[in-house]
Amino acid sequence: MEKREKFLESRDNTKRESEYWGNDDFNDIDDDYYKAYEKRYQQVYKHNYLWSSKEPTPDVIETILKEKISSNAKILELGCGEGRDAIFLLNKNYDVLAVDYSNTVIEKCKELSNYNYNYNDKFKQFDIINDTLNDKFDFIYSIAVIHMFVNKEHRNKFYNFIYSHLNKNGIALIVSMGDGIKEYKSDVTKSFDDVERVVVNNDEKINIATTSCNIVNWNTFEQELLNNDLVVKRKWISEKIPEFNPAMCVVVCRKE
Ligand SMILES: C[S@@+](CC[C@H](N)C(=O)[O-])C[C@H]1O[C@@H](n2cnc3c(N)ncnc32)[C@H](O)[C@@H]1O
Repeated sequence: MEKREKFLESRDNTKRESEYWGNDDFNDIDDDYYKAYEKRYQQVYKHNYLWSSKEPTPDVIETILKEKISSNAKILELGCGEGRDAIFLLNKNYDVLAVDYSNTVIEKCKELSNYNYNYNDKFKQFDIINDTLNDKFDFIYSIAVIHMFVNKEHRNKFYNFIYSHLNKNGIALIVSMGDGIKEYKSDVTKSFDDVERVVVNNDEKINIATTSCNIVNWNTFEQELLNNDLVVKRKWISEKIPEFNPAMCVVVCRKE
């Protein structure tokens, strides 16, 4: 609670907490550590920078081609960030809904896609941990999001969300930072603390929220998937996602 109070002290008191975090339900900082990305995006945009590159993830495109995902397929991106993959696919006429917890980054996605797409139709503020959608999807992908969930319950909720939102023959691509061998967990009480980081697009150093990180090895990753009735069809290590190298990639489907 101490870290949260420190941050709340530094904010503009004329604003309600929900205006900062996009959510009224902000009771315990340890449970809400994954919301620190909202703070990070606000800090980055004050400098008028972008946080990510605009390059789409090669592994998403390769999976779409390899698994023959058609432009009629219903696609969901979980944790889209600045939309580098969703905007690329939307511009190629794929039917994508991209969601992210951060309202600030969803607004940025609208701007970066030149307001070409209906806000709630294509980009949506949404919490994978606490919200559900009425739709099911043929292809779900999520790049560099699962490694942000440190709490075991949150990790299981993430996998369960995928399971319950996949169509019967649907598949999902999940990408997690890690080399498949080493394991590492960040201290979630420090997620909102500022740290100096280099902006990938311009090499400038700025202070931003630390956020969270839980790198697992292949053994843990596959066991978690199995526990949540997700069957691994293919797995590989990708060196092609510059900001998240190396990354463990899995294509999964629902257990029959
Ligand atoms: C490391 S970034 C990756 C962004 C993007 N996929 C990319 O590859 O550039 C992780 C993203 O997950 C989002 N996120 C974290 N927790 C979330 C949650 N519970 N629901 C939805 N999005 C979440 C963050 O806001 C952030 O944009």
